[in-house]
Amino acid sequence: MKRSAINRSIAEASAFFAENRFVLPPYADWTPEEWRGRGSEANELRTQRLGWDVTDFSAGHFETLGLTLFTLRNGVPAGGGNGKIYAEKIMFVRQDQVTPFHYHARKTEDIINRGGKGTGRLAVQLYNSTADGGLAESPVSVACDGIRRQVEAGGTVILGPGESITLTPYLYHTFRAVEGHGLIGEVSSVNDDDRDNYFLEPLPRYPEIIEDEAPLRVLCTEYRLA
Ligand SMILES: [Fe+2]
Repeated sequence: MKRSAINRSIAEASAFFAENRFVLPPYADWTPEEWRGRGSEANELRTQRLGWDVTDFSAGHFETLGLTLFTLRNGVPAGGGNGKIYAEKIMFVRQDQVTPFHYHARKTEDIINRGGKGTGRLAVQLYNSTADGGLAESPVSVACDGIRRQVEAGGTVILGPGESITLTPYLYHTFRAVEGHGLIGEVSSVNDDDRDNYFLEPLPRYPEIIEDEAPLRVLCTEYRLA
Protein backbone atom coordinates (compact mmCIF):
# COMPACT_ATOMS: atom_id res chain seq x y z
CA MET A 1 0.00 0.00 0.00
CA LYS A 2 1.34 3.41 -0.90
CA ARG A 3 2.19 5.83 1.92
CA SER A 4 0.22 8.50 0.05
CA ALA A 5 -2.96 6.36 0.30
CA ILE A 6 -2.31 5.81 4.04
CA ASN A 7 -1.81 9.56 4.56
CA ARG A 8 -4.99 10.33 2.64
CA SER A 9 -7.08 7.83 4.58
CA ILE A 10 -5.84 9.11 7.95
CA ALA A 11 -6.70 12.67 6.90
CA GLU A 12 -10.17 11.57 5.75
CA ALA A 13 -10.76 9.52 8.89
CA SER A 14 -9.67 12.43 11.11
CA ALA A 15 -12.12 14.75 9.35
CA PHE A 16 -14.90 12.13 9.48
CA PHE A 17 -14.41 11.51 13.23
CA ALA A 18 -14.38 15.26 13.90
CA GLU A 19 -17.50 15.88 11.80
CA ASN A 20 -19.28 13.19 13.76
CA ARG A 21 -18.00 14.46 17.09
CA PHE A 22 -15.88 11.50 17.98
CA VAL A 23 -12.88 13.27 19.49
CA LEU A 24 -9.57 11.40 19.46
CA PRO A 25 -6.90 11.73 22.17
CA PRO A 26 -4.04 14.20 21.60
CA TYR A 27 -1.51 11.62 20.34
CA ALA A 28 -3.72 11.11 17.27
CA ASP A 29 -2.27 14.36 15.94
CA TRP A 30 1.40 13.78 16.78
CA THR A 31 3.62 14.14 13.74
CA PRO A 32 6.58 11.79 13.12
CA GLU A 33 8.80 14.55 14.47
CA GLU A 34 6.76 14.86 17.67
CA TRP A 35 6.99 11.08 18.11
CA ARG A 36 10.77 11.29 17.85
CA GLY A 37 10.76 13.87 20.65
CA ARG A 38 8.79 11.63 23.03
CA GLY A 39 10.56 9.52 25.62
CA SER A 40 9.71 6.44 27.64
CA GLU A 41 6.64 8.14 29.16
CA ALA A 42 4.87 7.24 25.90
CA ASN A 43 5.94 3.59 25.87
CA GLU A 44 2.46 2.29 26.66
CA LEU A 45 1.32 3.76 23.34
CA ARG A 46 4.21 1.95 21.63
CA THR A 47 3.99 -1.45 23.32
CA GLN A 48 0.19 -1.63 23.13
CA ARG A 49 0.16 -0.29 19.57
CA LEU A 50 -2.31 2.47 20.29
CA GLY A 51 -3.02 4.91 17.50
CA TRP A 52 -3.37 4.76 13.75
CA ASP A 53 -3.68 1.53 11.80
CA VAL A 54 -4.48 1.56 8.08
CA THR A 55 -4.53 -1.67 6.09
CA ASP A 56 -5.43 -3.02 2.69
CA PHE A 57 -4.53 -6.53 3.91
CA SER A 58 -1.80 -6.34 1.24
CA ALA A 59 -4.45 -7.08 -1.40
CA GLY A 60 -3.88 -3.82 -3.29
CA HIS A 61 -7.45 -2.54 -3.63
CA PHE A 62 -7.98 -0.46 -0.54
CA GLU A 63 -11.22 1.22 -1.67
CA THR A 64 -13.05 -2.11 -1.60
CA LEU A 65 -10.90 -4.20 0.80
CA GLY A 66 -9.38 -2.36 3.72
CA LEU A 67 -9.87 -0.55 6.97
CA THR A 68 -8.75 2.58 8.82
CA LEU A 69 -8.64 2.21 12.59
CA PHE A 70 -7.51 4.07 15.66
CA THR A 71 -6.82 2.01 18.79
CA LEU A 72 -7.70 4.04 21.87
CA ARG A 73 -6.77 1.54 24.56
CA ASN A 74 -5.47 -2.00 24.87
CA GLY A 75 -4.25 -4.31 27.60
CA VAL A 76 -1.45 -6.85 27.53
CA PRO A 77 -2.20 -10.01 25.52
CA ALA A 78 -0.26 -12.36 27.81
CA GLY A 79 -1.90 -10.82 30.89
CA GLY A 80 0.53 -8.21 32.15
CA GLY A 81 -1.19 -7.71 35.46
CA ASN A 82 -1.89 -4.00 35.05
CA GLY A 83 -5.63 -4.65 35.24
CA LYS A 84 -6.26 -3.50 31.69
CA ILE A 85 -8.15 -6.46 30.33
CA TYR A 86 -9.98 -4.50 27.65
CA ALA A 87 -9.45 -2.71 24.37
CA GLU A 88 -11.26 -0.06 22.37
CA LYS A 89 -10.98 1.02 18.75
CA ILE A 90 -12.76 3.46 16.49
CA MET A 91 -12.96 2.62 12.81
CA PHE A 92 -13.59 4.55 9.63
CA VAL A 93 -15.26 2.04 7.32
CA ARG A 94 -15.71 3.49 3.86
CA GLN A 95 -18.95 2.80 2.07
CA ASP A 96 -18.67 -0.62 0.38
CA GLN A 97 -15.22 -1.24 1.91
CA VAL A 98 -14.94 -4.79 3.21
CA THR A 99 -13.03 -6.26 6.14
CA PRO A 100 -12.61 -9.89 5.08
CA PHE A 101 -13.86 -13.02 6.87
CA HIS A 102 -11.93 -13.78 10.03
CA TYR A 103 -12.48 -15.00 13.55
CA HIS A 104 -10.62 -14.58 16.82
CA ALA A 105 -9.70 -17.48 19.11
CA ARG A 106 -9.45 -15.37 22.27
CA LYS A 107 -10.98 -11.95 21.73
CA THR A 108 -14.67 -11.26 22.23
CA GLU A 109 -15.63 -7.97 20.61
CA ASP A 110 -18.66 -5.76 20.46
CA ILE A 111 -18.85 -4.00 17.10
CA ILE A 112 -20.88 -0.83 17.50
CA ASN A 113 -22.36 1.59 15.00
CA ARG A 114 -21.48 4.89 16.67
CA GLY A 115 -22.72 6.94 13.75
CA GLY A 116 -25.78 9.10 13.40
CA LYS A 117 -27.44 11.23 10.78
CA GLY A 118 -25.59 10.97 7.49
CA THR A 119 -23.38 8.01 8.33
CA GLY A 120 -23.74 4.49 7.04
CA ARG A 121 -25.04 1.23 8.38
CA LEU A 122 -22.80 -1.76 8.97
CA ALA A 123 -23.57 -5.09 7.28
CA VAL A 124 -22.05 -7.93 9.32
CA GLN A 125 -22.13 -11.40 7.73
CA LEU A 126 -21.71 -14.43 10.00
CA TYR A 127 -20.78 -18.11 9.97
CA ASN A 128 -19.79 -20.47 12.73
CA SER A 129 -16.36 -21.98 12.06
CA THR A 130 -15.74 -25.70 11.62
CA ALA A 131 -13.03 -27.56 13.57
CA ASP A 132 -10.67 -27.21 10.59
CA GLY A 133 -11.26 -23.48 10.17
CA GLY A 134 -13.90 -23.59 7.43
CA LEU A 135 -17.40 -22.12 7.25
CA ALA A 136 -20.01 -24.22 9.08
CA GLU A 137 -23.53 -24.73 7.79
CA SER A 138 -25.07 -24.44 11.26
CA PRO A 139 -27.27 -21.50 12.26
CA VAL A 140 -25.55 -18.75 14.22
CA SER A 141 -26.73 -17.64 17.64
CA VAL A 142 -25.63 -14.10 18.39
CA ALA A 143 -26.52 -11.24 20.74
CA CYS A 144 -27.26 -7.74 19.47
CA ASP A 145 -27.47 -5.18 22.27
CA GLY A 146 -28.32 -7.91 24.73
CA ILE A 147 -31.03 -9.47 22.58
CA ARG A 148 -30.27 -13.03 21.52
CA ARG A 149 -31.16 -13.86 17.93
CA GLN A 150 -30.49 -16.59 15.42
CA VAL A 151 -29.37 -16.06 11.85
CA GLU A 152 -28.86 -18.67 9.15
CA ALA A 153 -25.33 -19.67 8.16
CA GLY A 154 -23.98 -16.78 6.07
CA GLY A 155 -26.77 -14.49 7.25
CA THR A 156 -26.23 -10.76 7.53
CA VAL A 157 -27.06 -8.49 10.46
CA ILE A 158 -27.43 -4.80 9.65
CA LEU A 159 -26.40 -2.40 12.42
CA GLY A 160 -28.00 1.02 12.33
CA PRO A 161 -26.80 3.95 14.45
CA GLY A 162 -26.54 2.97 18.10
CA GLU A 163 -26.76 -0.75 17.43
CA SER A 164 -24.11 -3.32 18.25
CA ILE A 165 -23.32 -7.00 17.95
CA THR A 166 -21.24 -9.23 20.23
CA LEU A 167 -18.82 -11.43 18.29
CA THR A 168 -17.58 -14.37 20.34
CA PRO A 169 -14.47 -16.52 19.64
CA TYR A 170 -14.52 -18.78 16.56
CA LEU A 171 -17.43 -16.88 15.00
CA TYR A 172 -16.48 -15.90 11.43
CA HIS A 173 -17.38 -12.33 10.54
CA THR A 174 -16.93 -9.94 7.65
CA PHE A 175 -18.31 -6.43 7.51
CA ARG A 176 -18.77 -3.46 5.21
CA ALA A 177 -20.49 -0.11 5.43
CA VAL A 178 -23.59 0.54 3.32
CA GLU A 179 -25.52 3.76 2.62
CA GLY A 180 -22.58 5.94 3.67
CA HIS A 181 -19.26 5.69 5.49
CA GLY A 182 -19.42 3.93 8.85
CA LEU A 183 -18.34 5.36 12.20
CA ILE A 184 -17.79 2.04 13.89
CA GLY A 185 -16.58 1.34 17.41
CA GLU A 186 -15.07 -1.78 18.87
CA VAL A 187 -15.04 -2.59 22.58
CA SER A 188 -13.37 -5.90 23.35
CA SER A 189 -11.20 -8.02 25.53
CA VAL A 190 -7.46 -7.53 24.98
CA ASN A 191 -6.57 -7.25 21.32
CA ASP A 192 -3.62 -9.14 19.80
CA ASP A 193 -3.50 -8.40 16.11
CA ASP A 194 -0.30 -10.44 15.63
CA ARG A 195 -1.64 -13.72 16.93
CA ASP A 196 -5.43 -13.63 17.19
CA ASN A 197 -6.73 -13.00 13.66
CA TYR A 198 -7.67 -16.09 11.67
CA PHE A 199 -8.56 -15.11 8.12
CA LEU A 200 -10.57 -17.46 5.93
CA GLU A 201 -8.37 -16.53 2.96
CA PRO A 202 -4.90 -16.17 4.42
CA LEU A 203 -4.14 -12.44 4.28
CA PRO A 204 -1.55 -10.36 6.10
CA ARG A 205 -3.18 -8.18 8.75
CA TYR A 206 -0.79 -5.29 7.99
CA PRO A 207 0.21 -3.89 4.61
CA GLU A 208 3.61 -3.62 3.03
CA ILE A 209 4.22 0.08 2.56
CA ILE A 210 5.58 1.73 -0.56
CA GLU A 211 7.19 5.01 0.48
CA ASP A 212 6.05 7.39 -2.27
CA GLU A 213 5.79 10.42 0.05
CA ALA A 214 6.67 11.39 3.62
CA PRO A 215 4.44 9.97 6.38
CA LEU A 216 1.90 12.34 7.88
CA ARG A 217 1.42 10.17 10.97
CA VAL A 218 3.25 7.20 12.46
CA LEU A 219 1.34 3.92 12.23
CA CYS A 220 1.01 1.78 15.34
CA THR A 221 3.28 -0.84 13.76
CA GLU A 222 6.07 1.68 13.22
CA TYR A 223 6.89 2.77 16.76
CA ARG A 224 10.33 2.29 18.26
CA LEU A 225 10.58 1.94 22.05
CA ALA A 226 12.18 4.93 23.76
FE1 LIG B 1 -12.95 -9.14 14.28
